[in-house]
Amino acid sequence: MTPLIIDTDPGVDDAFAIALACASPEVDLLGVTTVFGNVGLAMTTRNALRLLALYGREDVPVAAGADRPLVFPHPHRARYVHGQDGLSGLSDSLPERATGLANTDAVSLLASLLDRAAQPVTIVPIGPLTNIALLLAVHPSLTGKIARIVIMGGAMNGGNVTAGAEFNVWSDPEAARRVLAEEEVPTVLVPMDLTVRCAVDTSWLDRLAASGERGRTLVSLTSVYREHYRKSLGRDGTVLHDAVAMAEAISPGLLKTSPMPLDVECGQGAGRGMIIADRRSTAAREESGVRRGRTVDVALDAELDTVREFMLERLSS
Ligand code: BDR
Ligand code: CA
Repeated sequence: MTPLIIDTDPGVDDAFAIALACASPEVDLLGVTTVFGNVGLAMTTRNALRLLALYGREDVPVAAGADRPLVFPHPHRARYVHGQDGLSGLSDSLPERATGLANTDAVSLLASLLDRAAQPVTIVPIGPLTNIALLLAVHPSLTGKIARIVIMGGAMNGGNVTAGAEFNVWSDPEAARRVLAEEEVPTVLVPMDLTVRCAVDTSWLDRLAASGERGRTLVSLTSVYREHYRKSLGRDGTVLHDAVAMAEAISPGLLKTSPMPLDVECGQGAGRGMIIADRRSTAAREESGVRRGRTVDVALDAELDTVREFMLERLSS
């Protein structure tokens, strides 16, 4: 079993990622923590509770975390992508969970779950990295309890929210820099360059909808989201960013990664939130004398149809 914690801002693709974890028998879902992002914290938390209720997971503790980034005010939300409530306006159609929030905050829940875990835990952050930066800053002694952090975020070649930046990293670049450049925890970054290539089409969504009640409900949450991607990609494609990262967390090696030092642009100019990946050879880094030691495994490739089939097979079960 893979003990796993999700840090999330649901979010339509977050919904697919949560569903994928719930539907995977090898996952021991220890907890879910929420963060601002696609919509505000109150709504992301409500959505997370309801998505777990859809999968009958009353047992999974949920705690709310940051409602704003670490350093600078950042009012931008992604309602134009995910709808006013984060789930294409259909959050109310999901069952309400009888078990409410845990009596604690996200960072405390993350820390206590790690502390109690019998084996190292995989953390899957699929929203802004604020809670995770705080966890690592406040509880450095717990890093040994983390098996991997598998993050959806970043863009190597052109962003989605600005010309160069991807939404999760741009929403809190200082937090992203802390996690990606300053910490020594084994980390996989799944950037949008790959998640876009893993986009699913109408026939994939139709097959999921036909698979049963939960599949039909998940697909019903995509109406606003699909329309956004139809316009932005200009083709029949829906990008399930967060579910692609979750697939790697569940099945290590499903995505092909390359180790590289990363940095995050934290200035206030046009490059804010951009990832700077050092793709030079080790020899070139050494020779220049200007290098960073820590590397992150960046997922840049995969057998795209295998990833799509993995997601469909699990979500259809
Ligand atoms: C990321 O931003 C959010 O809108 C999605 O949920 C995903 O986590 C993609 O850039
Ligand atoms: Ca997300």
